[in-house]
Amino acid sequence: MDNQLADTKKEVLLQWLSLVGPAILLVILFIFLEVKPFQVSDPYSKNVLSLQGDPVKGKGIFQMNCAGCHASPMKSQVGPSLDKISQHKSDLGIINQVVSGQTPPMPQFQPNEQEMADLLSYLKKI
Ligand code: HEC
Repeated sequence: MDNQLADTKKEVLLQWLSLVGPAILLVILFIFLEVKPFQVSDPYSKNVLSLQGDPVKGKGIFQMNCAGCHASPMKSQVGPSLDKISQHKSDLGIINQVVSGQTPPMPQFQPNEQEMADLLSYLKKI
């Protein structure tokens, strides 16, 4: 009788583990993936941050690619004004915003590292 009871307990425990085990693994995976973007671990951002940007070139890149949606004097603009953007977004956050394409309708851009550094240096001045 006792043995049977112990067996049932074991079974219940195993069932529970088989359900909860993968869930725990998933949670760990999610935490890992969520935390990752906040570290400068990707070589692209790291290189961009190590480069000296040219705000004059950056302005040109901005006017060609971004001003259509972000130019501040326009009332009908699609995107928010980027005046003083560097006060509420980190360098890494700005890079991520430009290259990730995670906030439609803003498209994903793929500037090379120097272009991104130029753009960033311009955005930090406005
Ligand atoms: C098609 C229109 C469009 C273009 C082109 C565009 N954006 Fe955006 N952008 C948006 C929209 C819309 C948002 C708001 C997205 C959201 O957070 O929901 C945004 C958000 C941003 C933000 C975050 C603003 C904040 O206050 O957090 C930054 C930074 C930014 N864009 C930079 C750029 C840069 C740099 C370029 C050019 C390389 C660019 N965008 C081109 C539409 C655009």
